Amino acid sequence: MRIETDRLIITEFTMDMAQNVHENSLDEDNRRFVPDEVFETIEDARETIAFLMAQYGKSDGPLCYPVITKTLGLNIGYVQMVPIGNENWEIGYHIAKSHTGNGYATEAVKAFLPVMAKAIGIDQVTGICLSENVASKHVLIKCGFVPVFEGIGDYQGEKREVFRSVWKMPTNDNPPGVKVPGQHGKARQTRSRV
Ligand SMILES: CC(C)(COP(=O)(O)OP(=O)(O)OC[C@H]1O[C@@H](n2cnc3c(N)ncnc32)[C@H](O)[C@@H]1OP(=O)(O)O)[C@@H](O)C(=O)NCCC(=O)NCCS
Repeated sequence: MRIETDRLIITEFTMDMAQNVHENSLDEDNRRFVPDEVFETIEDARETIAFLMAQYGKSDGPLCYPVITKTLGLNIGYVQMVPIGNENWEIGYHIAKSHTGNGYATEAVKAFLPVMAKAIGIDQVTGICLSENVASKHVLIKCGFVPVFEGIGDYQGEKREVFRSVWKMPTNDNPPGVKVPGQHGKARQTRSRV
């Protein structure tokens, strides 16, 4: 699988990415909002990459892909689709703290959604984050997710204030150009190969 946007390449993991995956995972936002995806050692990162590589082409586990910058070839994070039961899938993403605030998560998620939804054979994707994770909420809204619930709900086994939203595959009835709050900027070019 390979998706190219203006500034990014979304591709498959290889074992030589373990050092980057370990380092990227250690930032304070990841520790705060996605603590189960913090890899304290390179060995932890290696085990996870091996697991993720084994999931490619399957539909029972996370389908997770590193995000690489085109200019410098830096591994800056990942985007993933995670099955959450009853044929529903949830989007997930992380951009390492030193690269946040540049629109990378939005650019990657926007390109990833239609390609992955088509590959999996679904027409909608769930987006969930803690309400206090303002950056993540912005990313979801900018990518066309529509809020469906905000309040106390289950989040990684705890009762927390959560924001739930749904993205639908653009159709004639649901065109991609429809403006949603917080969505701005020019459309970016995308090329993909699954
Ligand atoms: C959430 C995350 C992916 C955002 O990555 P990013 O590349 O900075 O995202 P983008 O630049 O595309 O968009 C971030 C948006 O949030 C806004 N934002 C960031 N921090 C904010 C804050 N503290 N308060 C308000 N808005 C904030 C940015 O201004 C931007 O919105 P805008 O374009 O409308 O101004 C990144 O911070 C991260 O990986 N966090 C840790 C992991 C995580 O929380 N993953 C999601 C789990 S649900």
